[in-house]
Amino acid sequence: MKKNKIVVAYSGGLDTSVMVKWLKDNYDAEIITFTGNLGQTKELVGLEEKAINSGASKVYIEDLTKEFLEEYAFPALRAGAMYEEAYPMACSLGRPLLAKTLVEIARKEGANMVAHGCTGKGNDQVRFEVSVGALAPDLKNLAPLRTWEFKSREEEIEYCRKHNIPVTASKENPYSIDDNIWGTAIECGVLEDPMVEPPADAYLHTVAPENAPDKFEEVSILFEKGNPVAVNGKYFDSVSLVMLVNEIGGRHGIGRIDLIENRLVGIKSREVYETPGASILHFAHKELERLTLEKSVAHYKNLVAQEYSNLIYNGLWFSPLREALQAFIDKTQERVTGIVKLKLYKGTIRITGRSSAYSLYDPALATYTAEDQFDHAASEGFIKIYGLGLKTYSRVEERVAAENKKLRLANGTLG
Ligand code: ARG
Repeated sequence: MKKNKIVVAYSGGLDTSVMVKWLKDNYDAEIITFTGNLGQTKELVGLEEKAINSGASKVYIEDLTKEFLEEYAFPALRAGAMYEEAYPMACSLGRPLLAKTLVEIARKEGANMVAHGCTGKGNDQVRFEVSVGALAPDLKNLAPLRTWEFKSREEEIEYCRKHNIPVTASKENPYSIDDNIWGTAIECGVLEDPMVEPPADAYLHTVAPENAPDKFEEVSILFEKGNPVAVNGKYFDSVSLVMLVNEIGGRHGIGRIDLIENRLVGIKSREVYETPGASILHFAHKELERLTLEKSVAHYKNLVAQEYSNLIYNGLWFSPLREALQAFIDKTQERVTGIVKLKLYKGTIRITGRSSAYSLYDPALATYTAEDQFDHAASEGFIKIYGLGLKTYSRVEERVAAENKKLRLANGTLG
């Protein structure tokens, strides 16, 4: 009987393969691996065998793509959540779901610990551990990469050789990639120089805008209560819809993001993202809100989106504040139903039309034609009272200036 039972968040890469054996020995533990499929492109075949050969006694591989979109990515889409106004947080949104599933498996298996393969200088360690802590305060979090003895990839490979852990002898990818259906994050290698343009081989899902077709493509997105439900007049389930929009955006070079970003741990890092689908859906959703949200709600919601984005980026998905803000956001989405027409062309998205049964655009008020119903005469009184405060302020300024001038004349300080 082993002393501990650990559920490991396992990707099948070098770090997590080493981790399985290392934890097994160092913690006298039975190891169960868990791999979540969030719609990443990387094949998951052969993963079970690999985990077993690395020392795991049981393997979980779960397709979480639908849950990821409907319970994490779409709520953030409804919020209009972009970290630092630019990043739709594909990676940040995946972590809480992986942590939640890790906890569920730990409970089912009666494990006393969970482990992840994040480094000690990123955001992901925080997201994992804070989420696990929020859902299962008694479970112990382990982060071997922060403490173990290995200083390089070579040392890890040597360890694998010694312990007969299978390492796929693939040519090392120069980048560190985190990929899911909502977007891809690409780091390391030459990308660490913020002055260097990301080379073509850094991108997985998009063509360079300059190599995109010379002809635009029209696409329409239908939303119901802030969620995308149909593309070009055809309804899709969430996973098929996002895959389709990713594909359409990818061929027009949409959603390449090159961002100097502030990590939670105090580091400024250069991040390259590809989010063709998320970029198009965020754009279209925003345009539909412009049509359907009452002005003060729209303005206030932008403030909420910023706070909400920071919460997600900083690992606080499972916080009462995120949930309360979500309730506000979802209330605002009750009327965000309608269609948006776009043109995609060489990396750009342009709106060409929008319509909604809840449209607040009133032609009788907006028109400059004879159909105009707006009460022009009422504007006079409105402006009088609206500007009254400024007039009062200005009169006082003038009076004080005149009095000061008189005083200085009397004192002879003004020639
Ligand atoms: N900076 C991004 C975030 O914190 C992405 C991190 C992705 N990790 C990676 N291995 N490339 O959400």
